[in-house]
Amino acid sequence: MEFFDSHAHYNDEKFDEDREQIIKETYQSGVTKFVCAGYDIPSSIKSLALSKKYEYIYSICGISPNDIPQNNTELWKSIEEISEIVTQNLTKKLVAIGEIGLDYYWNKENKELQKQAFIKQIELANQLALPIVIHSRDAAVDTIQVLRDNPVKEKGIFHCCQQNQEMIKHALELGFYISFAGPITFKNAKNAVDVVKMVPLDKLLIETDSPYLSPEPNRGKRNDCRNVRYVAEKIAEIKGVETEEIARVTYENAMKIFKI
Ligand code: NI
Repeated sequence: MEFFDSHAHYNDEKFDEDREQIIKETYQSGVTKFVCAGYDIPSSIKSLALSKKYEYIYSICGISPNDIPQNNTELWKSIEEISEIVTQNLTKKLVAIGEIGLDYYWNKENKELQKQAFIKQIELANQLALPIVIHSRDAAVDTIQVLRDNPVKEKGIFHCCQQNQEMIKHALELGFYISFAGPITFKNAKNAVDVVKMVPLDKLLIETDSPYLSPEPNRGKRNDCRNVRYVAEKIAEIKGVETEEIARVTYENAMKIFKI
């Protein structure tokens, strides 16, 4: 069985001690492709470097809502810088702009700046004909509104998707993929069954969001891509299909949205 982990942060400092080893073990465990996600400028540069070094690692670059500068001038500078980096490194290994979006859980005070950063990076994705990877936390209504007002040509993915039925309904209507991570396996995940059932197999992706959010039975430990199988198992159980089937369709879907 082969897996495609659609979102991990092997660029995170939590992997500084044993990154090479974990990357090797990830591949050997059957996770034969994964995406290393940037969230600011240094982490985007690191993700590009990893994708150049390893054939089976792909890169996404962008500035997350939790990593944007706190004033307009600095924000424009950062957006310009990330645009230059992406444009200069545009190869088949750079598969999306992300993670970008809105996060009102961690940051409620700068909603307008978050929206500006989100919209500017959607424009960048549209210029380069890339999909986007969306981080949306406690900001469902505004996230959907931004996507309606600023159509994304190549669509994209709701990453580590919150278990919010209303948001998923609109995300699917807009043609986006839904990527589930560890939280659907948690014992207190109240809506997991309902939301997983809502997403058709051809719009489904799986991810770890490593090093965070380890799925059961490894909850609380550092996460790595090898745990993506637990997310697949949980979805298979809910949908009443084999884990192989989930592994296969999510692999194919990732290949399609990332144009690999
Ligand atoms: Ni992430």
